[in-house]
Amino acid sequence: MISTITAPRRLRGVIALPGDKSISHRAVLLNAVATGNAGITNFLTGADCLSTIACIQALGVRVERHEDAVRVYGAGLRSLREPVDVLDCGNSGTTLRLLAGMLAGQEGMFAVLTGDASLRSRPQRRIVAPLRALGASLDGRDQGNRAPLAVRGAHLHGGACDLPIASAQVKSALLLAALFGDGPLTLTGRTDGRDHTERMLAAMGVTITVDGPTIRLTPPDRADALQPLSLQVPGDPSSATFWWVAAVLHPDAEVTTTGVCLNPTRTGALDALRAMGAQIEVTNRRTEGGEPVGDVTVRSSQLCGTVIEGAIIPRLIDELPILAVAAACAGGETIIRDAQELRVKETDRIAAVASGLTALGAIVEPTDDGMIIAGGGNLRGATLDSHGDHRLAMTWAIAGLIAVGETTLHGADAVEVSYPEFWNVLKRISE
Ligand code: S3P
Repeated sequence: MISTITAPRRLRGVIALPGDKSISHRAVLLNAVATGNAGITNFLTGADCLSTIACIQALGVRVERHEDAVRVYGAGLRSLREPVDVLDCGNSGTTLRLLAGMLAGQEGMFAVLTGDASLRSRPQRRIVAPLRALGASLDGRDQGNRAPLAVRGAHLHGGACDLPIASAQVKSALLLAALFGDGPLTLTGRTDGRDHTERMLAAMGVTITVDGPTIRLTPPDRADALQPLSLQVPGDPSSATFWWVAAVLHPDAEVTTTGVCLNPTRTGALDALRAMGAQIEVTNRRTEGGEPVGDVTVRSSQLCGTVIEGAIIPRLIDELPILAVAAACAGGETIIRDAQELRVKETDRIAAVASGLTALGAIVEPTDDGMIIAGGGNLRGATLDSHGDHRLAMTWAIAGLIAVGETTLHGADAVEVSYPEFWNVLKRISE
């Protein structure tokens, strides 16, 4: 699909966000091994989360969906059935990595996890090596580094693992495997990625403790130990950031996003935008689905450049492409460092963002682990491509909303992966 985008006169509106992608995946995966049924509302109906539902159904779990309401009928920790075909995770790294962890401990079960060309190109040694150290039997192309991954469920041990990369997918794969181990698992090191798995497991009755960077999970001693967890999925802050940046950069804008997940492991983009001078107001703070949420109102603002590095990076990793657009329009230089993980997302987002911004007239220098953005530029419309990456499709849509002249976006339908309503919302708030 090709979209044409021009700048509207004004941006105004209240946006009820789709459910958070990370929480939607986890709500289905964890409830699938609970005992009893759970209702999930505001479930994200993007293609990634639908891949998770399809895989869980292929493992013999009953899942019903009516629009964004999902019911999962879990039958316990030992209830998964061997799938009769390969499990297609589509574009979703979360589906593949978390399922690999969960299936590693299904003794005797054989399963193959695969996905689209992007997912099959992404590195998997990060989960395969630590899972093997717990006793898992996993293999794949490139000596176990690329999908398709074959899993032969095995008897898993407890133990300790020091995580070298701040990846919530790796951390979660290990925690899900540990549910089936014969002793406690201790994780140390870069455990600072999003903590939705830890929160949800604790709410379901699993013994899991978090002490600074040290996480310790004790496997339940009964197959029916996990209590089902019904929840309303909070709004996705990664999706909200597109509207925040649009509102900040447009000269006549006021946009409110409601029900945003404000989990501190996810609020890096809010912090970075504030540091750049954005006018942001958070109201109506409350708790939903075991997570802090609030409504976020953003108005037209003058931005200055900043440095984004270190501990904040895992808290805004998925938002860096759209934050780079904000940086290109800010006064002064912005430096992004310590974000080498961007190179192994759905696309190489350092290369793709640098080349897209350059086409829009910005001055950007890609580096190994980030980029240097000169700032102060007025973007001008260009012809861009999402390369099938949902976050790039939305990044270029917002850039087109701010740019002078017309932007043509190829692959605009990639938004389906995480925000199917994106183009409709964009139309509604443009006046
Ligand atoms: C996710 C974790 C992040 C993020 C991805 C979703 C998750 O990946 O980029 O979009 O749901 O755990 P990493 O864990 O690889 O950093």
